[in-house]
Amino acid sequence: MIKLNLKYLNKQVDTKNVFDEYQEKCKKIHDSFKTKKFPGSEMTGWMTYPNVIDESMIENMISISKEWIKDKNIKNVLLIGIGGSFIGVKAAIDMCLPYFNREINFYYANNISSSYLTDLYKKLSEKTNLAIIVVSKSGTTLEPALALRMFYKLLLEKYGSEGASERVVAITDANKGTLLKLANKYNWRTFPIPDDVGGRFSVVSPVGLFPCAVAGIDIKSMINGFKDALKDTSNASISKNSAYQYAILRNYLHKKMKKDVEVFVTYEPQLFYFSEHLKQLFAESEGKNSKGILPIVAPMTTDLHSVGQYLQDGKKIFFETSLLLNKPMFDTKLSSFFEDDDGLSFVNNKTVFEINNVAAVSTIEAHSIEGNVPNIVLEIDEMNPYNFGYMYSWFSKALAMSARILGVNPFNQPGVENYKNRMFAKLKK
Ligand code: PA5
Repeated sequence: MIKLNLKYLNKQVDTKNVFDEYQEKCKKIHDSFKTKKFPGSEMTGWMTYPNVIDESMIENMISISKEWIKDKNIKNVLLIGIGGSFIGVKAAIDMCLPYFNREINFYYANNISSSYLTDLYKKLSEKTNLAIIVVSKSGTTLEPALALRMFYKLLLEKYGSEGASERVVAITDANKGTLLKLANKYNWRTFPIPDDVGGRFSVVSPVGLFPCAVAGIDIKSMINGFKDALKDTSNASISKNSAYQYAILRNYLHKKMKKDVEVFVTYEPQLFYFSEHLKQLFAESEGKNSKGILPIVAPMTTDLHSVGQYLQDGKKIFFETSLLLNKPMFDTKLSSFFEDDDGLSFVNNKTVFEINNVAAVSTIEAHSIEGNVPNIVLEIDEMNPYNFGYMYSWFSKALAMSARILGVNPFNQPGVENYKNRMFAKLKK
């Protein structure tokens, strides 16, 4: 579960008045999510998808992942995808698993750097137990298409055509597209991405569920978290809906207090990719028609020694949304071995998490009190698949409300076509 904590917001923000001011508009938008009569409403399938998800498909995902791991002894999986077909999946895997002790090593092909892909090719050539998951809804995105061309050749060399076919799962449109055609031609197994679910809203669909099942994550629990957040954010009354409170406050801070930047702050590296997902979710959904709040990420405490100076003392163009963990996956009590030789006797017998937590709370206080930076805090009780599903759904719902208040279609990304047109013209596509 997550809890919205507004204690560090800003004394000038009278939340009750703000919520009253936005209530009517919020109710209209909330109702429109049901009547589905607004630009982009055809892409709101994710609001109901986990409730109608095909149980037999989930069982099939679990059974293929078992076949890969138990029968084929797969230890290394290359996930090919980009944007919404990659970031959220990595966010899920990182949040739900330990850092280093993992049964399956995931490698990612999410760019077109020649050095990265060539070096990855070399690395994966050395591995004897490899499989590929390729995710692309359109099936035509350059980055995954190019990587698939490179790495399927590697599977063929290793396992021959039948063995290679058994080691690829393609996740793509159910009825059309180049990737589906390839899958049919080369006999790969496939899972469908629903038509009405866009990339950055798709992780609790086969896009994220199959890779997570292979990684050993409890995907049923993830789906339950997603469903519960949908339920908990189904109230039109702002005072009873924390996702809408967040959406409205960020809009208020932007419009009334001229905050053009939102900094997503994390204190756990396990949440770094979740903050990258938030960056994508908000930027790709809201940055339209010369509107939007620019999202950036600040992984702490690392960034306290870089951008931290600006956040404390720089131009007041931003607010922060801090993700604060209550219970870590692991913790270590510090020994008193050095006594005070290192001048740190004050940490004797404290745990590393206690110290990280003190650093987090002190930073939030320093930024919000001395620095006068509004801070919205989201408390997460612990890292697990349920909470990933919950947070993913909660933020998607908040974004949908936020973008509609801003007056943009949350579910398209027309701006990304411009560079593609130029690039494909130069490449003579
Ligand atoms: O959120 C989105 O819709 C995008 O980021 C897409 O996921 C991204 O462009 C990849 O598209 P595709 O899955 O069609 O390859």
